[in-house]
Amino acid sequence: MQSPATYHYKVVRQFTVMAVIWGIVGMLVGVIIAAQLVWPELNVSEYLGYGRLRPLHTNAVIFAFGGCALFSTSYYVVQRTSHAPLFAPGLAAFTFWGWQLVIVLAAVTLPLGMTQGKEYAELEWPIDILITLVWVSYAVVFFGTIAKRTVSHIYVANWFYGGFILAVALLHLVNSAAIPVSLFPMKSYSAYAGVQDAMVEWWYGHNAVGFFLTAGFLGMMYYFVPKQAGRPIYSYRLSVVHFWALIFTYMWAGPHHLHYTALPDWTQSVGMVFSLILLAPSWGGMINGIMTLSGAWHKLRDDPILKFLITSLSFYGMSTFEGPMMSIKTVNALSHYTDWTIGHVHSGALGWVAMISIGSIYYLLPRLYGKAQMHSMKAVETHFWVATTGIVLYIASMWIAGVMQGLMWRATNPDGTLTYSFVESVKASYPFWTIRLLGGVLFLTGMLIMAWNMFRTMAGGQVVDAPVLKAAVAH
Ligand code: HEM
Ligand code: HEM
Repeated sequence: MQSPATYHYKVVRQFTVMAVIWGIVGMLVGVIIAAQLVWPELNVSEYLGYGRLRPLHTNAVIFAFGGCALFSTSYYVVQRTSHAPLFAPGLAAFTFWGWQLVIVLAAVTLPLGMTQGKEYAELEWPIDILITLVWVSYAVVFFGTIAKRTVSHIYVANWFYGGFILAVALLHLVNSAAIPVSLFPMKSYSAYAGVQDAMVEWWYGHNAVGFFLTAGFLGMMYYFVPKQAGRPIYSYRLSVVHFWALIFTYMWAGPHHLHYTALPDWTQSVGMVFSLILLAPSWGGMINGIMTLSGAWHKLRDDPILKFLITSLSFYGMSTFEGPMMSIKTVNALSHYTDWTIGHVHSGALGWVAMISIGSIYYLLPRLYGKAQMHSMKAVETHFWVATTGIVLYIASMWIAGVMQGLMWRATNPDGTLTYSFVESVKASYPFWTIRLLGGVLFLTGMLIMAWNMFRTMAGGQVVDAPVLKAAVAH
């Protein structure tokens, strides 16, 4: 039985290991769809064709890989910084098994073609209900642990995790409101229609980026960067300003996904303006993270875990500069529908989300399994370089392809006819899709190295539940 004097690490261990496993699965599906774009003949069956595997990829990487990493790190951080073991550990175990069930159901229903047809909210109504149950339990465990903390202060990482948990609950409930039609096949109709449906969906979609893919991972950043660097966060005051400015601004930026649509023009302009403002809090956070290393830059030279964490912040800075630029209507007129968007997505997803998760997991694993460090630090270093090369190939090829596509589509002859047919732009994209595939294979190879290293670290190790720290001791 769990001693009351130790932290509850079992659920942290479970989510950590599954984050790596689902990361491999989700990225493998990413590699498969990238290959299908290069060789369309790989679309072998209706169940495993591009159209069905693409949402499987996005769900697996965002909610299975990213979700497990967020559950694992938030459960660890909230206990360590509250100096209290998890509230309701039985409920925490339910969140683990419930979340795995959601993932398995997604992996079955999406290839079968059961979908709400809303991007990043594809899962049908019975699964949505299960997600709601898991999420409410997650909130109870997380905020319950904060309530029973033995230190008066609530460390800033918990603000970000808490904001992410509350916002995702709100987004999920509002966007997934639907009228169920049948259980098998699972089918429902959205509670909204027409342009309202589109607006609700992209309010959800953009805040899925802002809260799931950003605020939660910033929680990770605010704990693991100072810990690994062995220094306090550069400016605690800035981190609090960062929190409030970020969560306020993100909520208004959704319409930038709907430029030049039937959405009222002023709404699109509001979305654009808030996206531009968003640059400031995003960079404030990025600078706060990177400057935490000031006076200790030399550590970057030989600490591959720190390399992951700091490089992720650089990609965060890059993608949050690029995003506001793409939200300017005239820029979006070129970038929308092109691979530029895909490049932007993956500089955020691979560069920021995956790299910060990988760095944090490398920090956690030895501590969870009673080892001084990872089985092979050389393998961590190799992973870093393989992954970084993979990202650069992926995003650079997509930027070039995207701008090329946008320019080809808008090029006209003196007589007003189009210079290029659409098929010509597809043909011109093949070399870049091949380079993206190579980048993806490299990134996936890095994940396989990580899995090997993880299992070697776990082998022969003892599961360790650290004693709860006394309030006066620094975490
Ligand atoms: C200041 C921050 C950001 C702003 C203002 C921003 C803005 C944008 C814009 C304008 C688009 C293109 C919309 C379109 O033409 O359809 C876009 C797409 C996207 N961005 Fe960002 N972005 C930001 C940061 C990020 C980050 C950090 C990530 C990932 C972690 C991310 C993930 C995405 C995704 C997934 C899409 C594609 C959505 C879709 O069409 O399916 N963004 N973003
Ligand atoms: C080995 C790594 C990966 C590969 C090879 C890969 C590949 C792909 C491909 C081929 C697409 C479809 C692009 C298109 O429609 O033209 C895609 C879409 C997407 N991927 Fe990945 N991916 C990888 C990792 C990730 C990760 C780690 C995340 C998130 C954490 C992610 C999030 C997304 C999202 C959100 C989209 C949809 C973008 C949109 O609709 O605009 N991917 N990916």
